Amino acid sequence: MSRPHTRPFTEGPSPADAHAPTLPYPDGWFAVAFSSELVPGTVLTRPLQGEDVVLYRLRDGGVRAVRPYCPHLGAHLGLGSVEGDDLLCPFHRFAFGPDGSCVRTGYGTPPPPSSGLTLLPVREVNDAVFVWRHHDGRAPDWELPAWHTLGTRAPRVATWEMAGHSQDVVENAVDLGHFTPLHGWGESEVAEPAVFEGRSFRVSVRSRERVPLLGESPLEVTLEGCGISRVHVCTALPRFGVRTCAMYAATMITPSAFQLRQASYLDVAEPGALPAPVARWVSRSVTRLLGGVMFRGNCEFVAQDFPVWATKRYQSPPRLARGDGPIGPFRQWARQFYAADPLRAQVPSSAVRAVEGSRVN
Ligand code: FES
Ligand SMILES: [Fe+2]
Repeated sequence: MSRPHTRPFTEGPSPADAHAPTLPYPDGWFAVAFSSELVPGTVLTRPLQGEDVVLYRLRDGGVRAVRPYCPHLGAHLGLGSVEGDDLLCPFHRFAFGPDGSCVRTGYGTPPPPSSGLTLLPVREVNDAVFVWRHHDGRAPDWELPAWHTLGTRAPRVATWEMAGHSQDVVENAVDLGHFTPLHGWGESEVAEPAVFEGRSFRVSVRSRERVPLLGESPLEVTLEGCGISRVHVCTALPRFGVRTCAMYAATMITPSAFQLRQASYLDVAEPGALPAPVARWVSRSVTRLLGGVMFRGNCEFVAQDFPVWATKRYQSPPRLARGDGPIGPFRQWARQFYAADPLRAQVPSSAVRAVEGSRVN
């Protein structure tokens, strides 16, 4: 008996990586790890725009990022190890010094000529590691500012991977129209209109929010961006003396998928009416108590955007309405982070690996 030529019926919106990408890879600095992941002695391999990047730390705390393939016979250095300040290839144990040069072979013979590694520009800012990538191989021509953080403890961090384009994460910060319908904010108003300047932008909003364990409070939010991959969101709940800030960093890993990293910080003001040591104790205790709850709330908040990002396309031109945020000026500003002819930099969708997942730690 012949089998029917059928397959399971697929329902629902197609993921963004099921079609040709509508925006190419952007240029700039892109997060590839949290600082806490790059403990001395470990070698990490992270995806960045269709290639692997290998990361390791030197004894003085410095970070190195290199292309993954050994110049000797092409082994992947992500399988290697760190000895002192040298990166060792797993195959024949050639050793590469902090400047990338091959300092010895595994046989005690002189290193072959021109056998150094290519060091990639790398920076460590705001508890994360960023690698530079430019479509024409240009060296960095701007730097990442260090945004303020809160409190003394290390940030709570989360990483997700999904279909879509990283620009949508940054555009989300100025898409003021979506905060009430998608995220459920109360009535919101712009406190300081958006300013786009050089590689950066900034906008402030006033709203109201219900906080777990505490109740409702006025909410003041400042959103800043620098580059087309990184956003800083600061919130203040003046009624409770609670401030939070979070960095979101989005990194394209394939032409139609990206990783999103979130690092969150929390600060609870010391109650003024109490003696200083008691006030400090109260502040620390409440920070500890609220930390996990606020962080989970943060993650749930940003996850409300995921189904939209993972299925949307880049709508160009957008049909904008009164009530939208400054999407138009944002799109103009964002153009500086792409090749002059974006279509030239586009990559066929056949190279796309469908990925979707979530990790919170
Ligand atoms: S391939 Fe790296 S040492 Fe041989
Ligand atoms: Fe959002």
